[in-house]
Amino acid sequence: MKRSSIGVGLFGLGTVGSGVARILLERAETYAERVGTPLVLRRVVVRQLEKPRMVELPAGLLVTDPNAVLEDDSIDIAVEVMGGLEPAYTLIRNALSRGKFVVTANKEVLAQHGPELLALAQDNGVDLLFEASVGGGIPLIAPLKRDLLANEIVGLSAIINGTTNYILTRMTNDGLGLDEALRQAQKLGYAEADPSYDVEGTDAAFKLAIMASLAFRTEIPPQRVYREGITRLAPNDFRYAAELGYAIKLLAISRRDEGRIWARVHPAFIPANELLAKVDGVHNAVQIDGDLTGKVLFQGQGAGSLPTSSTARTTSPWVLRSSLRGALRPTPPSATSTTS
Ligand code: NAP
Ligand code: HSE
Repeated sequence: MKRSSIGVGLFGLGTVGSGVARILLERAETYAERVGTPLVLRRVVVRQLEKPRMVELPAGLLVTDPNAVLEDDSIDIAVEVMGGLEPAYTLIRNALSRGKFVVTANKEVLAQHGPELLALAQDNGVDLLFEASVGGGIPLIAPLKRDLLANEIVGLSAIINGTTNYILTRMTNDGLGLDEALRQAQKLGYAEADPSYDVEGTDAAFKLAIMASLAFRTEIPPQRVYREGITRLAPNDFRYAAELGYAIKLLAISRRDEGRIWARVHPAFIPANELLAKVDGVHNAVQIDGDLTGKVLFQGQGAGSLPTSSTARTTSPWVLRSSLRGALRPTPPSATSTTS
């Protein structure tokens, strides 16, 4: 039976949540047309009701009680963009157990509990979508899960944390100190609530664990990823890099070698003429090496409100349509299409 609308509940209205709410409200008509049914934002859960917000919501949407989303049967999709392990993990579990589709940008929850949550989603006949958890606005999860399926993945090398890449770029180009560059990254909404996750390489390790698990079809716990952040880099490192023709980047690398998989995150010198050396600012880049396709490079904004809202797939009607199986009718062919 066709539904009159699809209800969305948001956990979190910070950098990413505001972007998701904004596009759901501003593009409601377009998405209704593309999906075939309106997507309606029904509830938004935050900690503090009085805090100033980056988006104006219709009256009555903002609440502090997560049960307002979990217990509302008119909410089909829960979008978790709160961050942190708890209560996010428990809320995602509860939402899936109640038969809600879940969209999350939370790499920590996915890296620590991904397989268990994906199995729970399957048991409940729903999907857990986590494209926004890795690479901000860059589609990476779908290519790894689907588009590169015919390949054996040999390895991947990535700049996968926008905050540290922004900091390293500002330190290299503008001579900023780490603390000042981090302050600016925080102002722009790139950093984690606890920015040590960025500068110590923890966030990159979570993302590498997620990507490597998908690439090599095995479970790679984030604790098994070797991790070194950017906090021990000294001004001399930047001077030597420039003199010798290198860029300093925080690299996340994983490879399969003779049946063993290794994964590591650490700062590295990259020859200035290589592609990854030219990926600057908040941009991320992920190079995936498949045995059939060879090296494929994905690049784009790795953090920020709107890029991440784009991959938070509530707004991806094509995925929605296949996700809410049977609930929606297919979009009719466009008036201009022809058949032969
Ligand atoms: P943020 O700006 O810190 O926003 C977090 C939001 O969650 C806030 O609205 C906060 O409420 C709410 N919240 C946190 N704990 C809560 C709790 N216990 N109960 C109710 N509400 C709670 O975070 P963000 O930057 O949007 O990041 C959210 C998630 O997306 C994280 O997992 C992050 O790693 C991921 N992510 C972020 C980016 C980015 O560019 N920022 C990109 C990709 C993925 P209050 O506003 O009332 O405090
Ligand atoms: N803090 C993260 C980053 C947000 O800077 O990459 C995007 O996941």
